[in-house]
Order: sequence, then C-alpha cells, then structure tokens
Amino acid sequence: MGYATLLLSSTGAGGSDADRPFRPSFRVVDRPGLPRRPVGAASHAGSPMKRDPLPRFAWALTGSGHFLRESLEIASRLPYTDLYLSAAAEEVLHMYNVDLEDLRRRFRLFRDNTASAAPVGLFYHGFYHTVVIAPATSNTVAKLVYGIADTLVTNIYAQAGKQRIPSIVFACDAEPEVYTEAPKEWVTLYPRRIDLENTERLRRFEYTTVATTIEELRRAVEARLQCLNISGS
Ligand SMILES: Cc1cc2nc3c(=O)[nH]c(=O)nc-3n(C[C@H](O)[C@H](O)[C@H](O)COP(=O)(O)O)c2cc1C
Repeated sequence: MGYATLLLSSTGAGGSDADRPFRPSFRVVDRPGLPRRPVGAASHAGSPMKRDPLPRFAWALTGSGHFLRESLEIASRLPYTDLYLSAAAEEVLHMYNVDLEDLRRRFRLFRDNTASAAPVGLFYHGFYHTVVIAPATSNTVAKLVYGIADTLVTNIYAQAGKQRIPSIVFACDAEPEVYTEAPKEWVTLYPRRIDLENTERLRRFEYTTVATTIEELRRAVEARLQCLNISGS
C-alpha cells in the first residue's frame, strides 16, 4: 500500500494545524500513569487550542529519511496524534515527496518556528501521554544525550522527561553499517563511533525506550498502547 493510500485509509484523529476539532476513534478504558487532571484548553503561539477530551501522542519527525515513510505509517494509525517537525524534517519530507498538506489532513502539525519552542507549554497541561521521536537523526540523538534542548523536537523530549512522560526514540544509527533510503536511491552508511555510543547512552535515560529497527519501533508503540489500554487501527 502506498503512502498516500495509507493516509486516506487509516483511521485516527484528523486535523489541520493546531485548531482542528477531533473525532475520537477509540476508547480509553484505564490510563495508568497519566495525569489525573482532565485536559483543558490552552493557548500557544497565538493559536487557541480546542479542548481535547483525552491526552495524545506527540510524534516528532527529525531530518532523517531512514524509514521515514514507515514511521509515518505507524503514526498515522495511532489515535489522537500530533506531529512535531524539526526544521530539517520539513526539508527532508519535501525531498521524499511527502506533502505537508497530506500530513495536515491526518494530524495537527507543529512546526519549529519559535526560538522558545512555544508548543512545549502543552506538556504542562496534560495534553500528551507519550512522545515518539521517529525517525531520530544522529544530531537529535546527540542533543538528547547531552541534555541540549534548542529545537522543537529536543525541547519536547526534555519537557516530557521533566514531566515524567515516557518517550520512544527510533535512533537511526545503531549498527556499524546502515542501509538506508536516500531520496533517489538506497545507500550504505557507516555511523561513527560517537553516533553508536550516543544511541547506547540514550538507552540509559529515564522514561525512554530506544528502538533501533522499524520493527522495534512498532513493538514499542504497541506496548505503549497496551499500557494505556488504547487500541490503534
Ligand atoms: C535527504 C536527507 C536525509 C537525511 N537522513 C538522515 C538520517 O537518516 N540520519 C541522520 O542522522 N541525518 C540525516 N540527514 C541529515 C540531517 O537532516 C541533518 O543532520 C539535520 O541537521 C538534522 O537536524 P534535526 O536533528 O534537528 O532534525 C539527512 C539529510 C538529508 C538531506
């Protein structure tokens, strides 16, 4: 199934940017470990948020083409999911012919256009139960490991940690040799020792699950859904 077909056929929250209403397509039976406070209205970066009935996934894309379409496929099957894009992700999406307008039809979309990463305020108000960074570039992984929060994506990871919200990170550079899809062909890359070490360091972080294959990512997301008693589509 092609990516466009998948976007059209999979269910989940529809939305365009940060101001779309949501249609629940799942039921939460129990929400262990979630904030008790119901999710309320909040206002960020000048765009008022509608009141959400339930917390959501915050799915972050970085400037990585490694299993980008497959990652988006998993995200598009999740209920109640917002997309957070690094500036590099926007460029790379374009190079892989993924249209932002297509994404807006499926997700609320947050772009990296404020120095303060203004949307992270949502994390203080119980809007999110889980952060997924997939795929994560070696650049973003390095920043996560050293506690740097200077992009939208590194900020949501840092703020999630400070709120004890679990994160799943799909790190691209986990093997000495990686066969990966460039925009026009498949290529072999040889991650540096520092890249491999950072992936290992990230495994030791609190509230963090590291996936290094798309299958591991799928399983980690599925495990989180089960923990939350939510079903995907
Ligand atoms: C087509 C394309 C694909 C890329 N894929 C990867 C990748 O798989 N892994 C990676 O670490 N960097 C990749 N990069 C480089 C990142 O986009 C670049 O390091 C960027 O600064 C990362 O920024 P971010 O981590 O804030 O998203 C890619 C760049 C391009 C142009």
